[in-house]
Amino acid sequence: MIRDNLMATAQALVANQKGLLAADESHSTIKKRFDAIRVENSEENRRRYRELLFTTEGIERYISGVILFDETLRQAARDGTPFAELLSRRGIMPGIKVDRGTKALALHPGEEITEGLDGLRERLAEYKRLGARFAKWRAVIAIKEQDVPTCFAMRANAHGLARYAALCQELDIVPIVEPEVLMDGDHDIERCEDVTSRVLEAVFTELDAHRVLLEGMLLKPNMIVAGLQCAAQEGLRRVSEATIRCMSRYVPAAVPGIVFLSGGQSAEDATDHLNAINSMGPHPWQISYSYGRALQAPVLAAWQGQQAHRLAAQQTFLKRCRLNSLACNGKYSRSMEAAE
Ligand code: 13P
Repeated sequence: MIRDNLMATAQALVANQKGLLAADESHSTIKKRFDAIRVENSEENRRRYRELLFTTEGIERYISGVILFDETLRQAARDGTPFAELLSRRGIMPGIKVDRGTKALALHPGEEITEGLDGLRERLAEYKRLGARFAKWRAVIAIKEQDVPTCFAMRANAHGLARYAALCQELDIVPIVEPEVLMDGDHDIERCEDVTSRVLEAVFTELDAHRVLLEGMLLKPNMIVAGLQCAAQEGLRRVSEATIRCMSRYVPAAVPGIVFLSGGQSAEDATDHLNAINSMGPHPWQISYSYGRALQAPVLAAWQGQQAHRLAAQQTFLKRCRLNSLACNGKYSRSMEAAE
């Protein structure tokens, strides 16, 4: 029964060209976003901003689920409706970020490990009572000098992801497994592909060892791109071919969906890349998005914390959701950006 539920939920999250909104910024991450538009990082401002996103009319046509932060799952709209209920009523599944961020990995300079396994079973049970249907755990892998990332750091992070995923499935919560290879650095696209390949291999080895049901989870990886400081930035074709090659080699076809993170790409690039990847389909998995910055950066820029800009911000958000949904079908083109 749980297996059937997990499979149905995972499939529903990537059905009908829909994708996910990652609105699960921790207090320190949302502070960075608010600082850029000079909005105070208060609990009420965070609530107002998330309400603006969740009440945007029409997004349910393009968004199947929203990843929330602990505080947000406990917050409500101005009229008192808890956010989880507000989203569910609109046919959007509430999800929850359950990792507790990263710490330096002992004896491994420059590498990090994601924390949050202690007490996770109990926290998941509470999140489920609060309405969460799926969860997210992010592992972070940085590309640095020749021997970083180390095999050990990749294995340790993969192990954490798999323990988290198993705990989720025990409670009928679909795990989104997010091993993010960061875009920071001057590495080229080949290095990104090489590291992402080794990371994904480690992740699926651990998921298998932990008896995680692949049909009842989603993978949230990075695309294969050159580092942000690399002089040689590759075009659409190179990025999409490398990304598909890497996913085809390392992601089992049993996984129902791959939902990419945006990782620091511009909103337009993230949509364009997703479109190029999908236009080279069909693929064994649904390929969609679970974007944070690529959905929200233009919204924050339009909003600026001003009530008077609320509607314009919501229109900007709806547009990004719609264009990314078109990209799930390979039906987006860059000219649509200017046309609206
Ligand atoms: P970005 O799309 O901004 O990378 O965020 C996605 C996410 O959820 C990171 O954990």
